[in-house]
Amino acid sequence: MERTLILLKPDAVQRGITGQLLTRFEQKGLQIVAMKLMQITPELAGKHYEAHKERPFYPGLVKFMTSSPVVALCLEGIDAINVCRNLMGKTNARESAPGTIRGDFGMSRSYNLVHGSDSPEAAAREIGLFFPEGVVKCNYSAVNWLYDPVEELKK
Ligand code: RTP
Ligand code: MG
Repeated sequence: MERTLILLKPDAVQRGITGQLLTRFEQKGLQIVAMKLMQITPELAGKHYEAHKERPFYPGLVKFMTSSPVVALCLEGIDAINVCRNLMGKTNARESAPGTIRGDFGMSRSYNLVHGSDSPEAAAREIGLFFPEGVVKCNYSAVNWLYDPVEELKK
């Protein structure tokens, strides 16, 4: 099982579509192990996007991410990081394929609705940043009807 940090960004919260976006992840079969509505501080945005500090879009990105609350989620599942990135679509929503979240809901390269960790290292770091209190321990019985984890994880 793998965990990933998902953010429903300020544009998703302001447009009132967080429920629809959350449904995409839930119906795919990912488990919610942490979720909260929160305001990102400039300090947290800086840590979260530190890899982009030198990029020209960085000041605008921090302004955007701190402009309104976000919904932070920790989702769990086999290959959760890649599964979520595929559900999200390309960074530029105008180029994102129909059927993806960005492809179905967005028109912007910057206001692109959702963030997802892009590697196991990034996921561990980002989950620690957004959920320092830890995640919820829960056995979801539906997992047994999504896959047989023992079979699925055999190489
Ligand atoms: P994210 O980190 O938010 O999941 O998005 P991503 O991996 O698809 O894209 P990334 O390259 O990591 O960029 C982070 C966020 O910065 C904004 N961005 N703006 N104006 C621009 O050229 C530009 N490029 C990136 C987007 O909000 C992007 O999601
Ligand atoms: Mg990224």
